[in-house]
Amino acid sequence: MKTDLVGKSGPKEEANKEKEMCGIESLNSQGSLDSNREDDRASLTLTFTLDSVRKIELSKAAEAFEMFETQIHHFETRRAKKPKNSVDDLDIFVECEVQSADVGTLITSLKRVAKDVKTSREDKVPWFPRKIQDLDKCHHLITKYDPSLDHGHPGYSDLEYNKRRAFFADLASKYRVSHTIQFLIFRREVYRKLRSLYPTHACTQFLDAFQQLEKHCGYREDNIPQLLDVSRFLKERTGFQLRPAAGQLSARDFLGSLAFRVFQCTQYIRHFSSPMHSPEPDCCHELLGHVPMLADKEFAQFSQDIGLASLGSSEEEIEKLATLYWFTVEFGLCKQNGLIKAYGAGLLSSYGELMHALSNKPEHKPFDPEVTAVQPYQDQTFQPVYFIAENLEDAKVKLQNYTMKKIKKPFALHYDPFTSSIEVLNPSQKVKRALHQMKEELKNFCLALENLS
Ligand SMILES: [Fe+2]
Repeated sequence: MKTDLVGKSGPKEEANKEKEMCGIESLNSQGSLDSNREDDRASLTLTFTLDSVRKIELSKAAEAFEMFETQIHHFETRRAKKPKNSVDDLDIFVECEVQSADVGTLITSLKRVAKDVKTSREDKVPWFPRKIQDLDKCHHLITKYDPSLDHGHPGYSDLEYNKRRAFFADLASKYRVSHTIQFLIFRREVYRKLRSLYPTHACTQFLDAFQQLEKHCGYREDNIPQLLDVSRFLKERTGFQLRPAAGQLSARDFLGSLAFRVFQCTQYIRHFSSPMHSPEPDCCHELLGHVPMLADKEFAQFSQDIGLASLGSSEEEIEKLATLYWFTVEFGLCKQNGLIKAYGAGLLSSYGELMHALSNKPEHKPFDPEVTAVQPYQDQTFQPVYFIAENLEDAKVKLQNYTMKKIKKPFALHYDPFTSSIEVLNPSQKVKRALHQMKEELKNFCLALENLS
């Protein structure tokens, strides 16, 4: 899983009305998406194969169903029709019911432990959030990472650290759109060392925003910036806001939040014994790496465009978009005044990898979404390959062209920034909307010209 990370609100009737089902069929003549369900649970028929079934394989599959509180109506096993490993391979048939918003993640989880996972609904448009409050339904941790269970984590045996880490995870899990956000702190050494590299290694957009964050949000090595202040800062500049996350989210949920200019953000911090390295994203990574870039208008649009492209996309398309996110938002480089600079958060929050990325050790390739989207990535050590954009505007245009040509959907999406909601349009509505916008812009342009004359 490579995205950084990772809530139901309002009256039940409203939630039911707004939450379209996973089994979305098609656009009707009004351009809305049909749903064949009246509530927010989806019925699924699943088939998959388990290799050389032993207790462990079965329990892993059962865990996936349990994690999403799946109600199982029918469970049947047969010897596999086409055994791959041994005669002990089993074909499994399951009829069940699950929250619509969980269908995609349940299937992804099953694919990790079983082969040939098929569902009667997989070819339909997956459920996606339609308004910012729907993000409360997208809080699925696909990996519940617990430092006290990982011998390699620097905080493994530190009871106090693990207690605090669990406290923040609990706060994030209970967070809803209307809530305020709790505090967080930096690690002094991290701040000091990274800040010394920024003038020579970071792009100008990052440097400008970082200066503003030091001035307005208390970014200092000896201070405790408030997540709420930082979120307000972003909201004023680009409309982005931070939302606390308990840990790693599914790629679909993480990217889906970006469509609403919401950035899922961890609140816990790396262990003091390992200030320059964290085995998981922490608030140093979010606040030093991501926040400054999210304050840049061009980059904010680029981030939202990836999010919008992800809504209703297939698992394969989500994988490509997550890879694009990885090599740009996390590990992107760009040209500036004849030099190569970093704009990716994974670089700008890691002293070692920032030095490595701008050295002659890794391979540097020009940013081309078609190539970048299928580039194998590395999440255990430094990247062997980085992609260099001509500039952020160029990266944004290339991404828009790529998503228009390669992420095909039977509908168009329009984000309404005034209501923080997504409109689903059919092709003719899309053309009318574009014409209306052009008319409005032309009217404003004519007024401006009249004023000038
Ligand atoms: Fe990140």
